[in-house]
Amino acid sequence: MPGPWPLTAERDDAGVLTIAGVAATDLAREHGTPLWVVDEADLRERCRRYREGFPGVDVAYASKAWCTVGVLQIVAEEGLWIDVASDGELHTALVAGVDPATLILHGNNKSDRELDRALEVGVGRIVVDSLDELERLERLAGARDHVAQVWLRITPGIDAHTHEYVRTGHDDAKFGFTLSLGLADEAFRRCLDLVHVEVVGVHAHIGSQIFGTDPFIANAEVMLDLLARWRDEHGVVLTELNLGGGMGIRYTHEDHPVEVARYGKAVLETVAERCDVLGFPQPRLVVEPGRAIVGPSTLTLYEVGTVKPLPGLTTWVSVDGGMSDNIRPALYDAEHEVALANRTSDAEPHAVTVVGKHCESGDLVREHAPLPGDLAVGDLLAVAATGAYTESMASNYNRLPRPAAVLVRDGQVRPLLRRESLDDLVRRDIPLS
Ligand code: LLP
Repeated sequence: MPGPWPLTAERDDAGVLTIAGVAATDLAREHGTPLWVVDEADLRERCRRYREGFPGVDVAYASKAWCTVGVLQIVAEEGLWIDVASDGELHTALVAGVDPATLILHGNNKSDRELDRALEVGVGRIVVDSLDELERLERLAGARDHVAQVWLRITPGIDAHTHEYVRTGHDDAKFGFTLSLGLADEAFRRCLDLVHVEVVGVHAHIGSQIFGTDPFIANAEVMLDLLARWRDEHGVVLTELNLGGGMGIRYTHEDHPVEVARYGKAVLETVAERCDVLGFPQPRLVVEPGRAIVGPSTLTLYEVGTVKPLPGLTTWVSVDGGMSDNIRPALYDAEHEVALANRTSDAEPHAVTVVGKHCESGDLVREHAPLPGDLAVGDLLAVAATGAYTESMASNYNRLPRPAAVLVRDGQVRPLLRRESLDDLVRRDIPLS
């Protein structure tokens, strides 16, 4: 199977899709649908490939991609640091037992509470995003008689040519200190006067679902030039460089992102060469993948509820979830590969549009999916590469309970997330009488 499917996905003799040797039909029967199925071997393998592809580099998992206790436990066990971008993600990491010293706190609008909690628990690095935040951090760290070690988030002026909503490195962005406007220099100069904030490095994340290595190379070069310039102008050598995340993954067989090993090699060679040219000591490097760690590990199982062929028009196939468990097609026009999971079929494939059960037309799972002509109510569909930014962006739109998630490995199934109940849905509601 693989392509965009988890590493252990295959068909058994009866044609049923299996993951880690567990049949999709058994999973659906025992755990219901929609269901996120996480292939543990795949998830661990992606962590390892990253660490091997970036020898000597600290790899931090961007938990915004999927932030639940079990997933963070696995990723931390594989030796990755964890990037958190809110007190909710921080809390989840702490509940997962992650060493706070291996946490990185991000965010363009961190609250005092979030900053103070980070100081209290001792997160490893805080990535400062604005001048306002610098002043607040100086005050909050001072109140704790503490020195916060920070990276400055730089907006390097690199356009990663990815979807508009996931571009972050171009000048006019809400994130970070825009280099071309002198904001990075201003922030650095300010840091030199602060007592409770110690700047130890810089960070730049240029965007997400990037397929080539060129934008990453450009990012590394711009950042090293900046570090060398600050050394020349201020006599201060910053020793840490976080190059962010953003590596693209396969969502369909047509996607061809670079292999991690090639990406790592390109970045490490660039850093070594540039440091040589600049006479700058090789900094400690950090990268921050989210999607590339967890995205490919997971598929979503849905049950087909209706099939509506409109002669000469579209055949609409409705499943029992949709934009509440995967907002990506609606938000980014994302295309995830879809396959019939409970059987194979000799029927001629034809293009159908798979939609969810929500009350709007943008509730797409996949347009023009080539599925067998005998697709019927009760069939199971699997949607590929749904580990990243699906669970973490899930909602209760139309008051759908959010799905369960299970972890499969060597024929064993372990629950990761229980399915929300109808009572969960009204738990926060306060009746007026
Ligand atoms: N570091 C920072 C500071 C980030 O903002 C992000 C992602 C990452 C690392 C990880 O990027 P990745 O390796 O996952 O590309 N919801 C969108 C993606 C938003 C990405 C936000 N930031 C999607 O579903 O495509």
